[in-house]
Amino acid sequence: MKHVIIYAHPSPKSFSSKLKNALKLTSDERNWETTIRDLYEMKFDPVLWPVELAQLSKGEVSDEIRKEQELVLDADIISVIYPLWWAGFPAILKGYIDKVLAYGFAYKAGSNGIEGLLKNKKVYLFTSMGNTIEQYESKGLIDAFKKIQGGEIFEFCGMDVQAHQFFPEIPSASDEEINHHIDKALSLFEPNEVIPIVFQNDL
Ligand SMILES: Cc1cc2nc3c(=O)[nH]c(=O)nc-3n(C[C@H](O)[C@H](O)[C@H](O)COP(=O)(O)O)c2cc1C
Repeated sequence: MKHVIIYAHPSPKSFSSKLKNALKLTSDERNWETTIRDLYEMKFDPVLWPVELAQLSKGEVSDEIRKEQELVLDADIISVIYPLWWAGFPAILKGYIDKVLAYGFAYKAGSNGIEGLLKNKKVYLFTSMGNTIEQYESKGLIDAFKKIQGGEIFEFCGMDVQAHQFFPEIPSASDEEINHHIDKALSLFEPNEVIPIVFQNDL
């Protein structure tokens, strides 16, 4: 299994960073081939400049973006770890999506409308936040975040969003709460329980 972790946080002291490190360990324990795309460490340029937009319309991308597309194309599992900033992705992650999930690579217009091209990929979204879940649920926004950040992007491109977990009130969370959140995230990757096969003698 090839597991790509797309990680968008500027601080190694953040919850997101701790989750990224723990997920890498778990992924390695599963013997998955794990690749971390640390967008800040990569100094990823999120701005879609005029020249790049012109390239995109011709189906062309830079070598840097082509490399990211190859990683995405090769992946069986994609985990995305990011804080919620102004009810959305950090700009660096939004720009990564703008550039990497390009028309012709991630989706195309077919005779039956838009067709997602990135099939057979499991996606896990992990979103840390300052607010409580209730503050957003009361406005219908948890559902909206799932639909926009999962549905309208990754599922739109044909991927299978397996889970979108939210981690509330992170700035005031205790170490115990942080560990609990990380355990909850990692539990998604536990190996399937082995179900014993019972043979029945029909004779
Ligand atoms: C620029 C910025 C915008 C933010 N916007 C939101 C927001 O819209 N909703 C929210 O719940 N928290 C918001 N926060 C708080 C962060 O989401 C929170 O501090 C972070 O998720 C904590 O996890 P971390 O340690 O991984 O950064 C914002 C923080 C920053 C720096």
